[in-house]
Amino acid sequence: MIDRPRPIVGPDYLVAGRYRLQSKLGGGGMGAVWLAHDRLLDRDVAIKQVLSTAGLDEAEARKVRDRIVHEGRVAAKLSHEHAIAVYDVVLEAGEPWLVMEHLPSRSVARALGLVNALPVIEVAQIGAQVADALAAAHTVGIVHRDIKPGNILVADRGPGVGMAKLSDFGISRNVTEASDEPDGMITGTPAYLPPEVARGAQPTAASDVFSLGATLYTAIEGQPPFGMDDDSDAIVERAAMAQINPPTRSGVLTRVLLHMMEPAPQRRPSMAQAREEILAAAFGPGAADNILGAPVRTEDGTIPAWAARNSAAGLRSPRSGPLPRRAQSQPAHPAPAPAQQIGRSGGGQSPSPTVAVTIGLLIGLVIIIVILMMVM
Ligand SMILES: Nc1ncnc2c1ncn2[C@@H]1O[C@H](COP(=O)(O)OP(=O)(O)OP(=O)(O)O)[C@@H](O)[C@H]1O
Ligand SMILES: [Mg+2]
Repeated sequence: MIDRPRPIVGPDYLVAGRYRLQSKLGGGGMGAVWLAHDRLLDRDVAIKQVLSTAGLDEAEARKVRDRIVHEGRVAAKLSHEHAIAVYDVVLEAGEPWLVMEHLPSRSVARALGLVNALPVIEVAQIGAQVADALAAAHTVGIVHRDIKPGNILVADRGPGVGMAKLSDFGISRNVTEASDEPDGMITGTPAYLPPEVARGAQPTAASDVFSLGATLYTAIEGQPPFGMDDDSDAIVERAAMAQINPPTRSGVLTRVLLHMMEPAPQRRPSMAQAREEILAAAFGPGAADNILGAPVRTEDGTIPAWAARNSAAGLRSPRSGPLPRRAQSQPAHPAPAPAQQIGRSGGGQSPSPTVAVTIGLLIGLVIIIVILMMVM
């Protein structure tokens, strides 16, 4: 059993002789995320202790460390404008830390704390951008496993203000490598768990599609698809039975989100298809260039107030043009064509019933006259 003294981690603490901690950016399930300064490259980074090996024997601790370093290396292969870059994995006092790109930002989870729910049109942009990053990750064999509002960051200042980036790729796994997790151990956050993972299966690319669908659903509907419950076992149970509360506010995205959250993984779209479905449903064909690699915008082309630092309204990014107009002008489900009006005269392509009846009577009259003439 390892029993080394635990260093007091706080501002000014130097990690791996290189990264000087400055201030806490937030704290999640696995420990705090810190803003730190990289003394070697003279730049800001975000740094997070991934897990603790305290209580493990030396052999187990080494195995865990090796796995984290390996996962960090896999994640570092991914370079995408909508993914937080992984720079480094380092050991500090025997514990693994992940060093990543620092994005001055607000997470979608924090945004939801401010405004309860986000407009469909803004969630569609976030969804397409994150799906684009995940499609690239899946192509190189990386499954994220923990997509949720807290892991989607939206830049709140600087030249990239409004850009959405998916965080926590460092704890992702290369699907080609054998799992060393004990059977029955569930990874991910209960509210966004796909049914198969809630039932104990290993996460796959298809489970990422479900979790992204559940995350976008939550951003629009204001609560997760399996509802709110402080008892996480109850949520996992509902997830295992795929008991989704039907969406009521998702508008143009309703069909896509339900497709992404299909209970059977093989019925879900791939991540690339999900990106295309989101773009087509919200913005019509050919919108990718306008949405991907661009900041999230409101209908009038400004950065949403929830995304801007100090909630500044009316902010415009130098990179943002107007949004394609489909979502503003088209209803969720196109209205059925109006029924043909009976007896409308002129301009119709088929004769009106009145004309048809008159013609019929005339033909009948002619036949009767012909018969009478033949009889006489
Ligand atoms: N690369 C980053 N740049 C800037 N801020 C970040 C970065 N990564 C995380 N943060 C901030 O720190 C907060 C906490 O992140 P963290 O990943 O620890 O928590 P979480 O995502 O809520 O939970 P979990 O640890 O389960 O993923 C985030 O919500 C975000 O506001
Ligand atoms: Mg996180």
